Amino acid sequence: MTARAAVLSGLGGYLPPRTVTNEELSARIDTSDEWIRRRTGIRRRHVADPGVSTGDLAVEAGHRALKSAGLGTADTVDMVIMATSTPDHPLPATAPDVAARLGLGPAAAFDMAAGCSGFVYALATATAALVAGHAERVLVIGAEVFSTVLNPADRGTAVIFGDGAGAVVLRAGTTDEPGAVLAVDLGADGTGRDLATIPDGGSRQRATGREPHPDGHYIHMRGKEIFVQAVHGMERSSAAALDKAGWNVGQIDHVVGHQANLRILHSLAQQLGVDRQRVVSHIEEAGNTAAASIPLALADAAARNRFRPHDRLLLTAFGAGLAWGSIALTWPPITPA
Ligand code: UT7
Repeated sequence: MTARAAVLSGLGGYLPPRTVTNEELSARIDTSDEWIRRRTGIRRRHVADPGVSTGDLAVEAGHRALKSAGLGTADTVDMVIMATSTPDHPLPATAPDVAARLGLGPAAAFDMAAGCSGFVYALATATAALVAGHAERVLVIGAEVFSTVLNPADRGTAVIFGDGAGAVVLRAGTTDEPGAVLAVDLGADGTGRDLATIPDGGSRQRATGREPHPDGHYIHMRGKEIFVQAVHGMERSSAAALDKAGWNVGQIDHVVGHQANLRILHSLAQQLGVDRQRVVSHIEEAGNTAAASIPLALADAAARNRFRPHDRLLLTAFGAGLAWGSIALTWPPITPA
C-alpha cells in the first residue's frame, strides 16, 4: 500500500578548495602518512580558509542541491534544517542566514546538533514534517568547519577531521516512488557524553564559574572507545531500520555510513554481513566531516554514477552525544549538481 513519504529530489556537495595532505600534517605533528592511511583510510582533508564559515559552505552545498532538484525562484522550500556542531555563532542559528542567502526566506529554518549523526537526525526530522503535511519541500544541509575546534597538537583528532558541506532536497511524495525514505531509527545515550566533547563555550562552564580551560574550545575525543561503540551502535541501528523497512541484509545495495574511519566502516560491514564492495567511502578525500560526511559521500558516489534508480540504500551514523541513527531509502533518478 502506498502512503505519503519524503522523497529525495536533489543532492549537492561542496568541499573547500584547500587540501591538507597527511605529509603536511606529518611535518608538524608526530604522525605519518603510513599510520593515517592504515589506521583511518584518510589521504587528505579539505580545510576552509580563515574567514570562511560553516554557513558559507552550507550556502554552496545548498545551491547545488536546489539546482540538482531543478528548483527555480518560483518554487517554494518550506523548511531549511542545518545539521552542524560548528555553527557560525551560538546565537542566532546558522540556518536562517543560510536560507536568506539562498533566497528561501521566509521558510522555517533551524539548526540541529546531533554530532556526527546530525544529518541523519535532520533527514528524519524533515521526513516527519513532510509525512505529517507540515511541509511540501525541505532543504537539509550538513555542514561543518571542524578545523575551528581542532587542537593542532592533538594527533588523535587533528588527523581525522575535515571541513565540508552536503545537502539534499526532500519533497512530499509516496512510498512507491524511487527516492522514498522508507524507515528511520534514531537513538541516544547521554551517559557517553564525555567520549567526544568541546568542554567550553556553553552554559555548563559559566554555570560552574569555572575558568575556561586552555584547550576547552577544542574537541576532546576518546577515539578508541567511540570506535568500538560506533561499530556496535551502527550495527544495532541499521538492523532496526532494516527491520522497519522490511528488508533483509542481502537486499541492501549500498551502505553509506558516517565517514569516521574506514576501519569502522569495514567492521560494520563485517558485523552486518554486507560485502565491502557495497560500502560507500569518501573518507580518503575528505576525512571525517562530521554532520557533512553522509551527504558528501552520497554526492561523491552519485557523481561517479554508483547508484541506479530503485537501488536500496542504508544510511547509518554514530557520534558525539552519544547519538546514532539509520535511514533506509531507495535511490531516485537524480544527478548531483
Ligand atoms: O566522528 C564521530 C566520532 N569519532 C569517531 O568515530 C572516531 C573513532 N575513532 C577512531 O577513528 C580511532 O580511534 C582513531 C583514528 C582516533 C585512533 O586510531 P586507533 O587505532 O584507535 O589508535 P589508538 O588511539 O588505539 O592508538 C594506537 C597507537 C598508540 O600508540 P601506542 O600506545 O600503541 O604506542 C597511539 O599513541 O597509535 C598511536 N597514535 C598515532 N600514531 C601516529 C594515535 N594517533 C596517532 C597518529 N599518528 N595520528
